[in-house]
Amino acid sequence: MQISNYKTQQEKILCTTVMPTRKIPDMVEDIRESLLKKPRALSPKYFYDQRGSSLFDQICSTPEYYPTRTENKILSRYGVDIINKTSPDQILELGSGYSTKTRRLFDACQQTSNECIYAPLDVCEEVLIESAKRLSDEYDWLVLNPLLGDYHAGLGNLPASHGTHLFVFLGSTIGNFEQEDALEFIKEVYKTMCYGDHLLIGVDRVKDDDVLHDAYNDAQGITAAFNLNMLHVLNRELNADFNIDKFTHSATFNADKERIEMRLISKAEQYVNINDLNESIQFNLGDDILTEVSQKYTYQGIEEMLKQANFTITDHYEDENAYFSLVLVSK
Ligand code: SAH
Ligand code: TRP
Repeated sequence: MQISNYKTQQEKILCTTVMPTRKIPDMVEDIRESLLKKPRALSPKYFYDQRGSSLFDQICSTPEYYPTRTENKILSRYGVDIINKTSPDQILELGSGYSTKTRRLFDACQQTSNECIYAPLDVCEEVLIESAKRLSDEYDWLVLNPLLGDYHAGLGNLPASHGTHLFVFLGSTIGNFEQEDALEFIKEVYKTMCYGDHLLIGVDRVKDDDVLHDAYNDAQGITAAFNLNMLHVLNRELNADFNIDKFTHSATFNADKERIEMRLISKAEQYVNINDLNESIQFNLGDDILTEVSQKYTYQGIEEMLKQANFTITDHYEDENAYFSLVLVSK
C-alpha cells in the first residue's frame, strides 16, 4: 500500500506555468487580426493540440521528411562533444514537443556522467506531461521541470536556476518565424541567458527544391492532415463550422524568399461561421489561408543571424549532405 502510494506520487508530473512577460493577443483577438483580414493567416501555434502534436510526430518519421532523422543523426554523432563543451547543470528546451531528439543529449549526459535538470517549455500541456512520464521512466537520473508557456509571450519569467545552462531550440522551429521575428527572438534568448551559457539551435538549410517540396507533401498525406487539423482546432475552440472536406493542403517552395509556405486552400465558394466571434467568412474557390512558413537558411545566413544577436559561435555541426545545421553558440 505504502509502496504504491509512493509510486503514484513519483509518477505525478506537474508543470510550472511560465507567466507572460508581455501581453499577447488571446485566441479571439488573434483570429480577428489574422483570419478575418486579408491576406488571411493563422498562427502555427494552433496546430499543436494533442492530435496535432501526434500528427507532427508522425510527419517526423515519414520517408520524405528528412530534417528529423538528419538532426537526430547529427545529435547522435556530436552529442558527447556538445555536452563536454557545455557541461550543463540545466538543459532548457524551447518548443520541446515529445523531446524525441533531445534524448540524444541525455544519452550523451549519461555517457559523460553529466547529471542535469531538464526544463522543457511548450504550449501543449498534454504533450509535456506525457513526454515527462516517458522520460522519467527512461532516464531515472534526469530531474524534470516541465514548463507550460508561450515563448512568444516573452522569456523573462523562466524560472531562475544556478549553474550553467544549455538552451536548445531544435527542429528548425526558428524557420517557422518570419525572418525579422526570428532575429528578435534570438536576441531575446540571448538576453535571457547568463554569461557562459550556451544555445544549441537546429536550422534547416537551403537545398534542392524537389527535396524541400516532398518533405512538406508526404505521400501518406500526414502533413496535409496536420495542416487541416488547424480547422478542427478552430471548430472546437471558437465554435466555428469549417467543413474540413472543403479545404485542401498546399505547401510550395517560394524561391525568392527561400522558404516553404504552407496554406489551406478553399475547394469551393463557401461561408464559414466563427460563432464565438459572431463573424462569418466568405471563401471563393482557391482562396487561401497562410498557416506556416518554413524558412531555409544558408550556412552564412545562420551564422550572420546568430552574430547579429551578439552570440559567439562555438561549433557548427552538419550532416554529410549539408541538409541541416546544428549550431552551438555561447554568450
Ligand atoms: N522540438 C521538437 C518539436 C518541434 S514542433 C522537435 O524538434 O521535434 C514545435 C513545438 O513547439 C511543438 O511541440 C509545439 O507545441 C511547440 N510550440 C509551438 N508554438 C509554441 C509557442 N508559441 N510557445 C511554446 N511552444 C510552442
Ligand atoms: N519546424 C519544422 C519545419 O519547418 C517542423 C514543422 C513545423 C513542420 N511545422 C510543420 C513540418 C509543418 C511539416 C509541416 O520543417
